[in-house]
Amino acid sequence: MHLSEKVQLGSKAIASLLPQGFTPEIGIILGTGLGGVSQAVSSPTQIPYAEIPEYPLSTVASHTGRFIFGSLGGRNVVVQEGRCHLYEGYSPEEVTRGVRIMAALGAKTLIVTNAAGSLDPLIPAGSIMTITDHINFTGQSPLAGLPEIPGLDRFPDMSAPYDQRLLELAHKKALELGMRLEKGVYLGLLGPQLETRAETRMFRAWGADAVGMSSVMEVIAARHLKMKVLGLSTLSNQNLPDGMAEVTLEEIIETSKKTAANLEKLLLALLPEL
Ligand code: HPA
Repeated sequence: MHLSEKVQLGSKAIASLLPQGFTPEIGIILGTGLGGVSQAVSSPTQIPYAEIPEYPLSTVASHTGRFIFGSLGGRNVVVQEGRCHLYEGYSPEEVTRGVRIMAALGAKTLIVTNAAGSLDPLIPAGSIMTITDHINFTGQSPLAGLPEIPGLDRFPDMSAPYDQRLLELAHKKALELGMRLEKGVYLGLLGPQLETRAETRMFRAWGADAVGMSSVMEVIAARHLKMKVLGLSTLSNQNLPDGMAEVTLEEIIETSKKTAANLEKLLLALLPEL
């Protein structure tokens, strides 16, 4: 089945389950440990991925899979709780199906969140960082192999994938909330193995501030679809070549959960002005 048919099938099935006339304006993808945000959605319609035809199911236990449609910060949102990753063996097309469905349902803005490792000794675990730019080090693209699609660019511009106004707004709101907010470059890789010291040293020298195993495919797909993108990383651990400590998934989830409350506060403050 062709990609656009799968997107159409999925978005039609979802639209039939939504309240009459509901159009999500903003899509939010929740990263590891950030599921709490979905509890803040009012008048929620929850749609498990298993109910969506052809939709890929995440195999990661920490990523429950469902869309939550409703109101957050006074805006119509769709929250994607649980994502598929390249490291699970999913194709870039499957990893980005959610973004394409969100766009097909009407969302014009995408907020991508993730848990990442901090490559900066001055940015401790527990921080939140806006993503100013990214390095796609997965070796893959969700656009490779796509046919020419009328109205969409064959070679989408990537000189500014993250929307400048949204970035500035996030920092303005953080300041108002008295919340420290870092900014930096996110490097996305395939995983699932964590990085060696040599890799970490190289990524830092390349100008990356954080490293993770998600988001870049979704952001590329969103830009292809001309959505505005805001990226937020919760830094669950420090990943430093000269003081490398073993990290466990449990630690990453635990730190992300602690940071989640702050991220939720920031999102709620941001949404009315997006
Ligand atoms: N490396 C890669 N992915 C991650 C990390 C890390 O240190 N922390 C959270 N996701």
